[in-house]
Amino acid sequence: MNTESRAAELRAVLNRAAYQYYTLDAPELPDAEYDKLFQELQALEAAHPELRTPDSPTQRVGGAVLAGFTPVRHAVPMLSIRTETDTTAAGAEAFDARVRRELKLAPDAPPIAYVAEPKFDGLAISLRYEHGVLVQAATRGDGETGEDVTHNIRTIPQIPLRLSGTVERSASGVERENGEDTLSAQRSTLNPPAVLEVRGEVYMRRDEFEALNERMRERMAAGDKAAKTFVNPRNAAAGAVRQLDSGIARQRPLSFYAYGLGEVTPADAGGPRFETQWDMLQGLKSWGFPVSALARKALSASELIAFHADVAAQRDSLPFDIDGVVYKVDSLDLQRELGYVSREPRWAVAHKYPAQEQLTTVQAIDVQVGRTGKLTPVAKLAPVFVGGVTVTNATLHNELEARRKDVRVGDTVVVRRAGDVIPEVVSVLADKRVDGAPEFTMPTHCPVCDSAVVREEGEADHRCTGGLFCAAQRKQALLHFASRRAMDIEGLGEKLVEQLVDGNVVRTLPDVYRMDLVVLAALDRMAIKSAQNLLDALEKSKQTTLARFLFALGIRHVGETTAKDLARHFGQLSAIMAADTDQLLQTPDVGPVVAGSIHTFFLQPHNREVVEQLRAVGITWVEGEPAPAALLPLAGKTFVLTGTLPTLSRDEAKEMLEAAGAKVSGSVSKKTHYVVAGEEAGSKLDKARELGVAVIDEAAMRALLSDGA
Ligand code: IVH
Repeated sequence: MNTESRAAELRAVLNRAAYQYYTLDAPELPDAEYDKLFQELQALEAAHPELRTPDSPTQRVGGAVLAGFTPVRHAVPMLSIRTETDTTAAGAEAFDARVRRELKLAPDAPPIAYVAEPKFDGLAISLRYEHGVLVQAATRGDGETGEDVTHNIRTIPQIPLRLSGTVERSASGVERENGEDTLSAQRSTLNPPAVLEVRGEVYMRRDEFEALNERMRERMAAGDKAAKTFVNPRNAAAGAVRQLDSGIARQRPLSFYAYGLGEVTPADAGGPRFETQWDMLQGLKSWGFPVSALARKALSASELIAFHADVAAQRDSLPFDIDGVVYKVDSLDLQRELGYVSREPRWAVAHKYPAQEQLTTVQAIDVQVGRTGKLTPVAKLAPVFVGGVTVTNATLHNELEARRKDVRVGDTVVVRRAGDVIPEVVSVLADKRVDGAPEFTMPTHCPVCDSAVVREEGEADHRCTGGLFCAAQRKQALLHFASRRAMDIEGLGEKLVEQLVDGNVVRTLPDVYRMDLVVLAALDRMAIKSAQNLLDALEKSKQTTLARFLFALGIRHVGETTAKDLARHFGQLSAIMAADTDQLLQTPDVGPVVAGSIHTFFLQPHNREVVEQLRAVGITWVEGEPAPAALLPLAGKTFVLTGTLPTLSRDEAKEMLEAAGAKVSGSVSKKTHYVVAGEEAGSKLDKARELGVAVIDEAAMRALLSDGA
C-alpha cells in the first residue's frame, strides 16, 4: 500500500473510532491501538506534509492561535426563534392553534405533525462541509454574520471532520468509504453533497463544567491570575468557542447536538432530499452527528404537552442544561408555506421552563442550627423568582463553602434552583461588591443557645455543643432520649414530640417528667387514657441503667456500645463527669475524638444542669463499682522509666505507678506524660527532651504517687 493510501486509511479508521467513542458512546478500538495508529498518521504527515488533509484527526489537536476572528457571512441566515409567552403546558396548544390559523385550516382538519426537541442551553454553531469535509465553523453572531471559530470547533471530538458514509476521492482515483456498513436510504448515494451546512448547539456537559471550575479554583489558589471560574456551562462553552488559542479551547471539553441545516446543495444537484424535520434529524445522525435521543415526533398538541412535561421531569437529571423545549412543524413543505416574520420562523416556537438561575442580592448571612447541632450559613436574599418559586434563602453549606464562594453581605449573586434541589448561590459577581464588606466567619457561639461552637478536626461542619440545652436540637434530642434503647418511653413519638417542643411544653429534657395529665390530655390526638398511659410509661422509664442514661443524653459519638463501655469502666456518673480527656481515654475502645466529645459535653454548665435535674425528678440506676484504675491518682497518665533510680528497682517503680492507675510504657512518644530518669539514662532521655516530655527523678515520682498528677 502506498503512503497516500495508508494515510487515507488511517484517517478513516481513526475518525470512525472517534465517532464510536464520542458520539455513539460505544468504543470499539482500544485506546492503545488508537494512540498507535494516531502516531503513525502523525509521522506520515510529518514526513509528507502534502498528505495532511483538513479532515485528518491530527488537525483536532488544538494549537493554532489567531490574532482575531474573521467574520463569516452566513449564506442562509441563522434565525432566532419565537418564545411562547404562555409558559404553562397550554402554551403548546396556543402554538398549535396559531399554526392551524396561519395555514387557514378548517377546525375539523386532521392534526398537524410536529417534532419536539430539547432547547439546549449552549450556543448556536453553523458547520460548513464541502464535498463531505468540514471546512468552516462559525458562530451565529447577529444571524447574518458570525465569527470563524473553525480552529476551536475542530477540537470537539463529537463533530465529524468528514461526513460519515461519504467517499473520499483520492488523487489515484480509488474510492474509499468512511462510514458504517448499513447506510440509510439518504446515503445510498455515497457522494457527499457539494455543500452542506449543519446547524446545532455547542454545549458543555455539567460534569465537565464542574471539573473545569474545580481546575480553575486550584489554579486560582496557586496564584494563577489568568484563571477564573465560570457562572454556568453556557458561559463556559461560549468562552471556550471564542478562544483565539485553540490549545485553551481544547482543555475545555465541549459537546454538540445537531438540529438543523443551513445552505445545502439542492436535491436535483446531488443534495439530500428530506421531506420532514424528522427525516432530516435521521439524516444528520447517519452523517455522524449527535442528535438528541430526547427528540420525538408529536402527532398533536396534546403530544407536545406530554413531551413538555416529560422532558421537564427529566430536566435535572440530564447531563447538560436545557432551558426549554422547541416545537417544529414536521413537514418541510408546511414549513415553507408558513415562512418567516422578522427573522423568526412561524413554524417553530421555544417553550421555556422557568429559569433556574437568577441574579439577586445578599441581604444578610444567617447561621441556622440543625436538628443535630450542625451550623449552616444561609444567605438571606432579596426575593427572586427562580426555578418556578420565589426564593429568599440559599444554603452556603458550611464555612469552607461560604469562604470558597466568598459570599458577603451586599453581594450580587447568581442563585440557582434546579427542581426540588435546595436553592444555591452559584457565584458572586465580584465587580459589584460594595467596598468594605467583611468576609464571612462562623460565630464562636451558637446563635440559638449561645453554647460554644466547635469544629472537629477533619470535618467541614461546625456544631453547637449545646446539645440538650439548644432549642434547635431539642426535638431530635427528645426523640433520641425517649427511644427504645435509651430511656424507652413508650408512646413518646415524633408527632407528640413536635407538639411538645413547638408548644413550649418541653424546653429541656427534665420537663418531660414534669408534664401532668391535664396538659397532656389537651394535646392533639390525646385523651385522658392515652395521657395516663404516657405518664405511666414515663414513671416506668425512671428506673434505668447508667449505660442507658448516658446513651440517652445524646452525646456526640457516644453510641450504645460506648455508653456501656463508659458505664463499665467508671461505674459512676460522677466519675465520668469529672474525668478529663486522658482519663476518658483509659476506657477500652474510647479514642481521642470520643473522649474529647464527652469531655466537652460535660464541660457545658447547661448539660450538667440537665443531668442534675433529671436525677432530681427521680431517674435512678444502680451505681456500679468503678473499674479500679479510673479513680486512682495517676489514672490516664503514661510513664516511661529509664536509667537506674537511687532506691527503687525498675520493677518496683513500675508496680507502684501501676497501682496508682498509671500506664508504664517501654518507649517515649508524644503521648508520654513523664519520663522518670535515673543514673545513666540513655536514648529515652534524649527522646523525651526532643519531644518536650516532662523528665522527673524518683523523688518527684514519689510526690506524684501521693498527690496525683
Ligand atoms: S432551531 C428556526 N432547535 O435556540 C429555528 N434551536 O433558536 C432555528 N436552540 O440560539 C433554531 N436548541 O442555538 C433550534 N433544538 C433546537 C435548539 C435551538 C437550542 C437555540 C439556538 C438558538 C436559539 C434560538
